[in-house]
Amino acid sequence: MNNQQSWNQEYQKPQLVTQSHKPQKDFLRFIKWIKNNKHIDLYSEITVLDLGCGVGRNSFYMADTYGAQVYAYDFSSDAINKANHIHKHELVTFEERNIAQSFPLENNSVDIILDVTASNALNEKERNLYLKECARVLKPQGYMYVRTLAREGDKNAQKMIKEFPGGEYDTYTHPQLGVTERVFSGPDFKELYNQYLEVIRMERKTGYQRWGSQSYKRNYWNVYIKK
Ligand SMILES: C[S@@+](CC[C@H](N)C(=O)[O-])C[C@H]1O[C@@H](n2cnc3c(N)ncnc32)[C@H](O)[C@@H]1O
Repeated sequence: MNNQQSWNQEYQKPQLVTQSHKPQKDFLRFIKWIKNNKHIDLYSEITVLDLGCGVGRNSFYMADTYGAQVYAYDFSSDAINKANHIHKHELVTFEERNIAQSFPLENNSVDIILDVTASNALNEKERNLYLKECARVLKPQGYMYVRTLAREGDKNAQKMIKEFPGGEYDTYTHPQLGVTERVFSGPDFKELYNQYLEVIRMERKTGYQRWGSQSYKRNYWNVYIKK
């Protein structure tokens, strides 16, 4: 089963993804930071790109709260169908699309890019394509938020890399989800992303990844990036 099929299966019978429609908390902190530092006037009809949007909880938040025009991509047809049924919003356009392919958007057209725990499922070649596209579509004054899996201090990640190797550096194939994921050390993340954009803040936080009724301690990077 490939990553796309595994994600579709997950949306048909969710064990891992949240059933909540509330926006992700670390993403909300990033938005607050943008607001407090006046980096972008969030109410100025901005354009947001939500990569790996799932059922659209963060997309809806940006459209409902700030009147943002949101383009939201996910390669899971089941996620996109669910998103379209949750809430029809004239400012949010959901599209079934692989984020490792060219985005149908103009150069320098997006104010904020969101990647909330999505791109960790890309392989190396795909990640470079996605980064090239992010750098192309982000406006010169634009910002990007990435929440991704951290290697440092994550015993579950280290165990899975050893027991279920994913074929590339620092990857494993999640034994239950079936998705192959990359975990990043801080220096590795910075070295790669700084080739395309500028990492300006990186914070590691502990969170919990659930599987059915069980939850596993995981570490996540919250990364703030600018062009
Ligand atoms: C952990 S979920 C997070 C969903 C959403 N960002 C949220 O915060 O609720 C990861 C999502 O990324 C999507 N995804 C993973 N790889 C993708 C790819 N190559 N192209 C598009 N979507 C992808 C999955 O289908 C899934 O919906």
